[in-house]
Amino acid sequence: MATYLVTGANRGIGCEYCRQLHARGDRAIAVCRTSSDELQQLGVQIEDGIDITSEASVADLRKRLGDTALDVLINNAGILERVTLDDLDFDSIRQQFEVNALGPLRVTQALMPLLKPGAKVVMMTSRMGSIEDNTSGGSYGYRMSKVALSMAGKSLAHDLKTREIAVAILHPGLVQTRMTNFASGGITPEDSVKGLLARIDALTLENTGTFWHAKGDVLPW
Ligand SMILES: NC(=O)c1ccc[n+]([C@@H]2O[C@H](COP(=O)([O-])OP(=O)(O)OC[C@H]3O[C@@H](n4cnc5c(N)ncnc54)[C@H](OP(=O)(O)O)[C@@H]3O)[C@@H](O)[C@H]2O)c1
Repeated sequence: MATYLVTGANRGIGCEYCRQLHARGDRAIAVCRTSSDELQQLGVQIEDGIDITSEASVADLRKRLGDTALDVLINNAGILERVTLDDLDFDSIRQQFEVNALGPLRVTQALMPLLKPGAKVVMMTSRMGSIEDNTSGGSYGYRMSKVALSMAGKSLAHDLKTREIAVAILHPGLVQTRMTNFASGGITPEDSVKGLLARIDALTLENTGTFWHAKGDVLPW
């Protein structure tokens, strides 16, 4: 049984990660701001009241975990706010950086003492953070913050290699969650997380720092 910590675990992809991990016999530590009925019904350990943009909140999480060793840290929490060129909302762009780029780095740094050799770190980024794949523009805050997150993941992959910690930078596909208004063309969280867990299971120090689609394709930066 391996121990996984998942942020943004009260709904969407994060909650589904916890469900599938629990079902396969792993231990999921579900971290969220506010718990949900859906999460509570899973019967996993829940650490609520944690906002990843807050230094004090993340320090509190570190304190609550004591010396619990983590096999996998999944930085999943994120936000998507629409920002267009005609309506450049810098506060929104700044907030998306706080949650999507700085939050996962803050959590990773705080929980580093719990990550031993052989552990893994996952950054849940997005293909919208791929510069090469940007064929439609817009989404300034989301795209800019996710490309920054991917870069943080790549640097972590280099910096943590000597500590024998591997890093995956993952795109879940277009998934039917609240973030996408349950996009009719999207895949279910169940299908997405099946693929994501396959990528995490196959993550090694040899392929650390790769940007993968949940389906297994390597994505362009
Ligand atoms: N769905 C897609 O098609 C898609 C595509 C590409 C990438 N992704 C990425 O996949 C991840 C999960 O997305 P999702 O679709 O499951 O989205 P979601 O349903 O909107 O869930 C987002 C999660 O992030 C949490 N969160 C937001 N701000 C937070 C903060 N300041 N501190 C702590 N938690 C915070 C939310 O908690 P609250 O309930 O408290 O707000 C929620 O649990 C995100 O990083 C997203 O960018 C999703």
